[in-house]
Amino acid sequence: MQRLQDRVAVITGAGSGIGLATARRFAQEGAKVVVVDLDEVAGTKAADEVGGLYVQADVSVEDDVVRMFQTAHDTFGSVDIAFNNAGISPPDDDSILTTGIDAWRRVQEVNLTSVYYCCKHVIPYMRRQGKGSIVNTASFVAVMGSATSQISYTASKGGVLAMTRELGVQFAREGIRVNAVCPGPVDTPLLQELFAKDPERAQRRLVHIPIGRFARAEEIAAAVAFLASDDASFITAAEFLVDGGISSAYVTPL
Ligand SMILES: NC(=O)c1ccc[n+]([C@@H]2O[C@H](COP(=O)([O-])OP(=O)(O)OC[C@H]3O[C@@H](n4cnc5c(N)ncnc54)[C@H](O)[C@@H]3O)[C@@H](O)[C@H]2O)c1
Repeated sequence: MQRLQDRVAVITGAGSGIGLATARRFAQEGAKVVVVDLDEVAGTKAADEVGGLYVQADVSVEDDVVRMFQTAHDTFGSVDIAFNNAGISPPDDDSILTTGIDAWRRVQEVNLTSVYYCCKHVIPYMRRQGKGSIVNTASFVAVMGSATSQISYTASKGGVLAMTRELGVQFAREGIRVNAVCPGPVDTPLLQELFAKDPERAQRRLVHIPIGRFARAEEIAAAVAFLASDDASFITAAEFLVDGGISSAYVTPL
């Protein structure tokens, strides 16, 4: 499929995981990809692989966000797609009883304020073009509670979801679609390592997933490519769950 032929797509956190899988998928579908990541080594490698442009930026810094969209526009002449995906889930963000204000704030800055900056600074380009598609990465934890809490992470993803909904509604008649993808747990190297060491921890989560396994990053990327493309032309302000059925489940199959 070549649904994104010559579209200019800016992807944050494209050096790893869901962002990297999406950079590959977008490039396969014909997009010109701008790979944004804090990590220069990973970002450069990803950009080289997909024939894209690497821009180093910290998405929690407004000037960096302004510069990355400006660079994309100066280089390729438009900004058609923004996949605002970079995010963190550090170990010091845990139960509300033990999570300190610094850990809380850092996660809010990187996961939520960054999406505010990215939307704020990409929408003017899209308004001038009369067209654009924004996909923000939320999470299934934005719609469900967990006893294994990461309190700031969960609150940040709830914020991403609510902001996405509002922007989708506000800019709907200007040709700009804004959607949130809500991935279920993804089979990342980090997750694999953690669960290999502690199978009970994996099982406690797997039991809730009707499909019976974690997602592959490529499966999230496929959904993002759909939302970014004109195939999703009547979809905006949506919470698009790609969660193996988790958020609909009560009793799962044995
Ligand atoms: N992995 C999961 O199970 C899962 C589930 C639901 C939602 N998500 C969300 O998906 C997104 C991507 O997650 P992932 O698992 O692919 O993560 P990852 O850690 O594999 O990749 C994230 C990338 O973002 C970059 N990054 C981190 N902070 C940055 C900053 N301030 N500025 C620029 N780049 C920065 C990192 O260098 C890294 O390359 C995140 O928003 C995450 O919360 C992940």
